[in-house]
Amino acid sequence: MTENQFETLKDKIRQRISGEGSLSVEAYMELCLTDPDFGYYVTRDPLGKPGDFITAPEISQMFGEVIGAWCAHMWVELGQPSEFALVEPGPGRGTLMNDVLRTANLLPGFQEAARVFLIEASPVLQVQQKSRLEAFADHIEWRDEFSTLPAMPMIMIANEFVDALPIRQLQRSATGWAERGVGIDDDGKLTWATLDGPDLEPLVPPSLRKLGENTIIEISPQRNGVAAMIGQHLNQHAGAALIIDYGYDSVMPGNSFQAVKSHEFADPLEDPGNADLTAHVDFSSMAKAASAAGGKVWGPLPQGTFLQELGITPRADQIMAANPDRKERIGRDLARLTASDQMGMLFKAMVIASPNLPSPAPFPPAENRDSE
Ligand SMILES: C[S@@+](CC[C@H](N)C(=O)[O-])C[C@H]1O[C@@H](n2cnc3c(N)ncnc32)[C@H](O)[C@@H]1O
Repeated sequence: MTENQFETLKDKIRQRISGEGSLSVEAYMELCLTDPDFGYYVTRDPLGKPGDFITAPEISQMFGEVIGAWCAHMWVELGQPSEFALVEPGPGRGTLMNDVLRTANLLPGFQEAARVFLIEASPVLQVQQKSRLEAFADHIEWRDEFSTLPAMPMIMIANEFVDALPIRQLQRSATGWAERGVGIDDDGKLTWATLDGPDLEPLVPPSLRKLGENTIIEISPQRNGVAAMIGQHLNQHAGAALIIDYGYDSVMPGNSFQAVKSHEFADPLEDPGNADLTAHVDFSSMAKAASAAGGKVWGPLPQGTFLQELGITPRADQIMAANPDRKERIGRDLARLTASDQMGMLFKAMVIASPNLPSPAPFPPAENRDSE
């Protein structure tokens, strides 16, 4: 049977499990999100009200504008190189990059120097990005891989990209730590499974190894691999990368693997390929991987603090003054992005920079992780 003969991703996964045995959570997540025939991101635009979820740049232009100001500031800190890569992995509808370019291009010389690289797995979203960013078409290239970025200084922005990179789940059993995965039961229903294999205790941080039976911890070699590539590039060619996502500044025990469909939580095994699958980001592991590869890491700061320090409230005041009829809405959007009980605390902003760069705004020198 060829791949195209499957009617659904569930069928394809069932067939694969029947032949090879249970899949790891990592393999399952990767298939669900980016399978070339049925992957969630490959087959749709999931953003916005009619979709499954909404992201910060889609909530308000203010988000991208203050990040645009951050990019312009970093370019100045880098000595205004005459050519640099402005990179965005996972650019969604192109809204963030559009707001960033609109703002940063106000700084003379920025637009001429910027070569924009978008790293996007979704052909559907690539079409949206081309249309949204039409005005900047001459400056933009699409790439599949980080490894193909040119050898030049880089400023990177990544909002809600790393949470979409697959995780592994390790679960404590009576005899040690095992890979958690997905199998099928006698009725052909997808079900949680434990994979056979050696004890995975060496992969578990020492402080968590003695946790009780059934405890789950999450690790992500894929995210750490991306952090290492960024750290290495910045070490060799200079620059700074801003990573914003939801998560923690430590490896937390617990299961954060989640599915979201039509703006509600769903069962991750119910309808593979038709719900967004994510897991909270462990910033501390990414920071370690980036530092080990030669990058210097700042933060993470809570998103609310980060945006406030970059001046999102004065920007909101300006937009309100120019649009008094939209005052209430703008105030609501500002609160959604910055309030602790909304996106302000769970979402965090971390910067990886080249080692010779002074502290990137808004991080004071004392917040460099290597000086802890
Ligand atoms: C949650 S959306 C965030 C979109 C955008 N950054 C925003 O804030 O609106 C995740 C983005 O990452 C892309 N993506 C997911 N996995 C990817 C991968 N492995 N490689 C490249 N892009 C990926 C998706 O297609 C989408 O553009």
